[in-house]
Amino acid sequence: MSDSPLLKTDLPGIPLKRGKVRDVYDLGEQLLLVSSDRISAFDWVLPTGIPDKGRVLTQVSNFWFDKLEVANHLLETDVTKMDLPEAVDLDPLVGRAVLVRKTKVVPIECVVRGYLAGSGWKEYQADGTVCGVTLPAGLKESDRLPEPIFTPATKAEAGDHDENISFEQMGQQIGTELAEELRRRSLDIYRQGVEHAKSVGILLADTKFEFGQVEGELILIDEVMTPDSSRFWPAAEYEPGHSQQSYDKQFVRDWLSASDWDKDSTPPELPNEVVVRTREKYIEACELITGAAFPWK
Ligand SMILES: Nc1ncnc2c1ncn2[C@@H]1O[C@H](COP(=O)(O)OP(=O)(O)O)[C@@H](O)[C@H]1O
Ligand SMILES: [Mg+2]
Repeated sequence: MSDSPLLKTDLPGIPLKRGKVRDVYDLGEQLLLVSSDRISAFDWVLPTGIPDKGRVLTQVSNFWFDKLEVANHLLETDVTKMDLPEAVDLDPLVGRAVLVRKTKVVPIECVVRGYLAGSGWKEYQADGTVCGVTLPAGLKESDRLPEPIFTPATKAEAGDHDENISFEQMGQQIGTELAEELRRRSLDIYRQGVEHAKSVGILLADTKFEFGQVEGELILIDEVMTPDSSRFWPAAEYEPGHSQQSYDKQFVRDWLSASDWDKDSTPPELPNEVVVRTREKYIEACELITGAAFPWK
């Protein structure tokens, strides 16, 4: 295994924007997206990384981009074919960097939920709706919804929470036609994802897509149905009525919850045991979804 996590990259001479997890390099008409091993929990990026987590996210996204028949941003996944400047060390980028079409990002998080969890469950308890969608009475936490629902959110500026909005508000923000198209596509991709995930024992409880526009085309961008952008639940342990164990971050959340960290200041370093077990879960999810042995074990 790679012994130490890749917490950040600094490619010489290329303009860089850092997201929570990805280092995004601007190459003009293209972007180089590098998934680091940073991990966030309770809305904080932790000081400790999970070795190879970035590779897991990249491999899972690449799998879906290949499997789904939808227009997407992916141009190249082989770092030796990316024509990067000579001075760039390719080794740390292998398996985690992708070259993509640079788009104008639609400023909406396209969330689809098939089960009642997280902010959806909170909103439902308060008023029986999720993002303005009225749901049947009497649902329990983690219950499966009668059918998947589209529950958009605004893309928050760095450090802020995303805010759930109604479909009407989304329409006012970006236009009704585009909103309808995004809802249709998001529900369709989610359904395809659910079907495949189910066949390998994972419940894809919900997920978030991003779309971008380029040369008049609307394409799927960012990451797709990864453990970071979705709730993956082990199907064998599914039981409504309480929150579910997540596939990947459960050890991290449990350990942080049991620690004396107040969730309102710089988080503590994770112990090695939590790192090792978390890494194993990410890799397990990756192998299940992609059906291939993880190459960097
Ligand atoms: N094809 C693309 N065109 C433009 N921006 C993109 C594309 N794919 C992903 N992005 C953006 O790159 C960033 C990815 O970094 P990430 O660490 O996931 O950020 P965040 O903290 O916003 O989740 C996101 O802001 C995402 O919107
Ligand atoms: Mg992101």
